[in-house]
Amino acid sequence: MQQLQWSTLLLTWSISLGSAHAITFQVPGSSGNNAATLDLSPVSFGFPFATLTGYFDGMPLASKCLDTFRSVSGVWPRIRVGGTSEDYGTFDPTLKVPNIVTGTAPTGQSQTTYGPQLVQVLANYKGTIVWGLNRGFNNLTNTIEAAKVVVKTLPTLYALELGNEPDGIILQFMVFAALNATIANGVDWNFQTEAESESKWQAAVGQALGRDNIVQASSYYQTPARGWGAANYFKFADPTADRYIKVYSHHNYPQTAVGTSNGEDPPNVQALMSHVNITKNVGLYVDDVKAAATRGFDYVFGETNSVSGNGKPGQGDTFATGMWVLDYVLRAASIGIKRAYFHQGTPGKSYYVWFNATGIQSPIYGGYFAAEAFAGASKIAALDDGTTNQAGYVLFSKTGKAQKVILVNSDYYDGSGIRSSTNFILNGLTGGNVQAQRLTAKTSLSRQASGDAPSFSGQSFSDTTCNLVGKKVVESVAVKGGSANFTLAASEALLILL
Ligand SMILES: *[C@@H]1O[C@H](CO)[C@@H](O)[C@H](O)[C@H]1NC(C)=O
Ligand SMILES: *[C@@H]1O[C@H](CO)[C@@H](O)[C@H](O)[C@H]1NC(C)=O
Ligand SMILES: *[C@@H]1O[C@H](CO)[C@@H](O)[C@H](O)[C@H]1NC(C)=O
Ligand SMILES: *[C@@H]1O[C@H](CO)[C@@H](O)[C@H](O)[C@H]1NC(C)=O
Ligand SMILES: *[C@@H]1O[C@H](CO)[C@@H](O)[C@H](O)[C@H]1NC(C)=O
Repeated sequence: MQQLQWSTLLLTWSISLGSAHAITFQVPGSSGNNAATLDLSPVSFGFPFATLTGYFDGMPLASKCLDTFRSVSGVWPRIRVGGTSEDYGTFDPTLKVPNIVTGTAPTGQSQTTYGPQLVQVLANYKGTIVWGLNRGFNNLTNTIEAAKVVVKTLPTLYALELGNEPDGIILQFMVFAALNATIANGVDWNFQTEAESESKWQAAVGQALGRDNIVQASSYYQTPARGWGAANYFKFADPTADRYIKVYSHHNYPQTAVGTSNGEDPPNVQALMSHVNITKNVGLYVDDVKAAATRGFDYVFGETNSVSGNGKPGQGDTFATGMWVLDYVLRAASIGIKRAYFHQGTPGKSYYVWFNATGIQSPIYGGYFAAEAFAGASKIAALDDGTTNQAGYVLFSKTGKAQKVILVNSDYYDGSGIRSSTNFILNGLTGGNVQAQRLTAKTSLSRQASGDAPSFSGQSFSDTTCNLVGKKVVESVAVKGGSANFTLAASEALLILL
């Protein structure tokens, strides 16, 4: 009894705290120096090298969902083909099928021999493509042979990648060890030897193709703070190879399912979606983006998702992971990261995918909301400093006018007890009222796969067409004296059209 009263008291106290909690943002009327310029398609997709045919055409939803993103952005989403298996792919120009499995890599992915038909799979895709090539096994001749076919086959080729995560993370290390006998001893493969070697490869491939601006460089997994980033890459790479680089890429997974020896956090969906943690995680790249820019290159997250190692069962398919996608890609864009290729892992074995053979998964809602937010906008700025779980972003039009505001309440709600909420006050608005579209779900743990579909603007994705279905709901909120008040429950976001 005593205990019951005490917990009731605690509950009341936390509820009143929750509702007393208000966040105020001043919305700038026009973009200042802090706003970052947006790519046309910041929400991009990655597909694994060895199992590309598992998506195209093995999974009809993949093409349908890409088309859904096209319908919002006006451009086909950018695609990257790569991952661990790219360094276990040997090219055979005479092979008459896309690829054949020849073994299993120590990391569990397939070791394959592939032919021109694997590249053909995306020959008609209209969005830009980054194609990953094997560097790990140190057969430059084979990689150049493949590069020539890729360039010839893909009219929308954006760049080639020379090796996936060549920074020696545990098992990948064994692959890159093949590059040099000294490296095989495990002593000499560091960011200096990697950059020297990589720039040689860039020059060799670029010259063989007769093409400049053709490589997506680096693709490291370990963080810049551990030495693996643009700062060291450009310090040690041969500057005469810069002409062959198109863009600088880094991979990013805030959490991991396969051991945290590279400094990632263990899987925990509440910690994942927290705006405080997202700000810290994206913040690891702020200086590195500047280092690449100093050398004249854009920065992208060339492979990213929530939990490395194909995700965490029971976490990757939740709405909370969708909330992470949304806040993460907005935050990344606001520090100048041009795009994030959200990796769709091994079909049937991956837990962070946005769609699979069964249907739509909850993370896609965050990606879709972000694509809607980015559509037609040309700059973005964060409104908050990342010290609370409540986030705000402002998007500016081509003429620099504030066009949309995004509010995110990344507090967690597991479905038990009363759901907290936060009032957000926006100042600096003009006009009589604004329209708002809400992203919500029953709880942070809602899974479309379990029949608890999240909703955006009242609509949810069809598991067969990947189109939003249901009655569209747009909220109208009054602006008084330049101010408006919005209430967001824990794990909700609002897209406000100014
Ligand atoms: C490297 O690739 C070339 C061209 O595909 C091939 O002829 C050669 O046998 C390969 N070398 C090794 C060591 O596998
Ligand atoms: C192997 O690497 C070492 C230093 O890491 C370098 O001095 C040497 O030239 C490399 N050898 C080859 C064959 O690439
Ligand atoms: C941030 O992540 C860490 C590590 O997973 C976790 O301990 C912490 O609770 C998270 N912070 C928030 C505010 O969720
Ligand atoms: C698709 O994902 C859902 C949610 O994780 C899972 O229950 C289902 O088994 C998956 N289907 C396939 C074919 O992988
Ligand atoms: C905002 O709305 C909430 C809920 O209606 C209300 O409790 C709060 O007082 C309002 N805050 C302001 C500053 O108007």
